[in-house]
Parts: sequence; C-alpha cells; structure tokens
Amino acid sequence: MKPKIYITRKMDERIVAPLQEKFDVRMWESESEPVPRDVLLKEVADAEALWTVISDQVDHEIIEAGKKLKIIANMAVGYNNIDIAAAKEHDVVVTNTPDVLTETTADLTFALLLSTARQLTFAESELRKGNWTSWSPMGYTGMDVGGATIGIIGMGRIGEAVARRAKGFNMDVLYHNRNRKHEAEAAHGFEYRELDALLKEADFVVLLTPYTKETAGLIGSRELALMKKTAVLINVSRGGIVDEAALYTALKENTIWAAGLDVFETEPVPLENPLLSLPNVTVLPHIGSASIKTRLAMMELNAQAIMDVLEERAPKNQVE
Ligand code: DGY
Repeated sequence: MKPKIYITRKMDERIVAPLQEKFDVRMWESESEPVPRDVLLKEVADAEALWTVISDQVDHEIIEAGKKLKIIANMAVGYNNIDIAAAKEHDVVVTNTPDVLTETTADLTFALLLSTARQLTFAESELRKGNWTSWSPMGYTGMDVGGATIGIIGMGRIGEAVARRAKGFNMDVLYHNRNRKHEAEAAHGFEYRELDALLKEADFVVLLTPYTKETAGLIGSRELALMKKTAVLINVSRGGIVDEAALYTALKENTIWAAGLDVFETEPVPLENPLLSLPNVTVLPHIGSASIKTRLAMMELNAQAIMDVLEERAPKNQVE
C-alpha cells in the first residue's frame, strides 16, 4: 500500500501531480473552506504526511490521532498553528516555507504602510460612495512616509527586506530584535533600540515578530501609550501580538493616529470586530504572501518536504 498524504486545502494540480505518482494523495477539495475538524481527525489516522495551512489548528489531539504520521508540512513561514511540543513527543517532523515569501511579504507590508499613512482605502471608498464632492485643502490628508522613522519589531528576513525598502524612501530605520544584527547595522545603517525607545521614536511601528509565548500580547495599552500621537501601527505578523481591545481604545481616542492590519486575533475577522468600525484602520485579509508566484513556490516547498521525509531524506526547512 502506498503511504498516504493528506492535504487540507485544494492545491495546484501541477504541484500535487509528482506526489500522486508515488503516494496515495487525498485532498480536501475546497480552496476557500477549511477542512472540518472531524474530517481532519479521520483523515490523519492513517496518513504518513499532513500538508497544512495556517488556519488548521494542529493540536495534540490531531497529532496523537496520526498514528503513522511522519511529517507535518505547514505552508507558511509561521507555525504557531502547530503544537510543536506534541509533534516532538510523537517524532513528527514539522517543516515550514521560509525565504520564498520574504520579498512578497515585505512588498505587502510596505503597501499596507503607504496605504494606511495616506488613507488610501478610506479615500477610495469615499469616492465610490459618491462622497468626493470637491477638492478640499485638508481632505483625505495623511502622514508622510518619505523621510519618516520606521521602527521594525522582529528583524528577521522579512524585517530586513522591509528595512531595505524603507531606506529607498529615505527613512531612518530602527529595529528591535532578540539578537542584534551587527552586519545589517554596519551595511545599511539600521539602528537597534530597546522596545520602549523604539515605540517612543518611531513614526511607523511595524510588527514582524513570530507569534510565541513571549510575543503574545506584546503590544498592549502600556506600549500603545508610549507611541506618538501621530504614529501608525502596522501588523503583518499574527493578530495575537497586539491586544485588540487596547488598540481599539488607542485608535478611538486618537492616542495613536492609525493602524494597518493584515492579521487579527480571530481569522477570518468577524465583521462585529469593533476595529472594523474605525475610519483610521486599514484592513486586509491576511495576504502577506499572496502573490501567484510565491504561493506556488510555497506549495513546491511543501511538496518537496513531504517527498523528502517519505523517502527518508532530511527535509530542507525543518523547524526548531
Ligand atoms: C506565513 O507564511 O506565516 C503567512 O502569515 C501566511 O501566508
């Protein structure tokens, strides 16, 4: 019997085909609807490989149910949706898809930063509603990006790619990270700051740190209160890094100027989320890595990782 692979979303046929030649590939046949938990529990029972996406909560129960499971290949750079300790306990390899999405996610981060600073989505929706009745001296005015100070929290690969873009906009680049990036400091003039100092100095605070026990709720009311009244917060990492209730209060009371969010505590974000009622919030549906080329490259990496583990080779992107 061929080893079984279970894929939790419909993926591109061209990438799945080589796996189908060698393995018994089963796939949840929807691209947009997540696989129901009971189906996943049933399918994982005899699978040797699981191909997951960020909306799959692969917890202890799922991993325990996968009696033959050898690999969980998560199609994302973040893997906070996988219980890594449970995977280790059961000798299941976990892989992710770094590098191929770095530039794409940095592009989106910068697009969201520009769009939030200049209120692009708000201005566009006003035009479409017929509310653009005349040119107005202070109508739709925003914050300048060129020459401003950006503060990047989480200076990994994507952080550095955002910082390089910021330099092209003549911005001063501050960063906060677990480890100092001495080479990048010397090569590009990026400056390290402690978290509080960065929050006080930056015009744009950009969150790109992974979601871990240490970063959950990293930005709460105390941190937001340190930011400038004219500052903009951008979150392209994971929603749980920001206390959304505290962010709502800060934006409502204008203690910070605006926020651009690609990620939320609960995704898809419920329409009742109060943040969606604020005009100074620009929102996107978690599309950091969403270019055609990048998503196909992420699929390729996942397929290769599964092939490697099932054929007893070390996979390229094993996490931790
Ligand atoms: C990632 O890769 O972690 C993104 O958030 C999902 O595209």
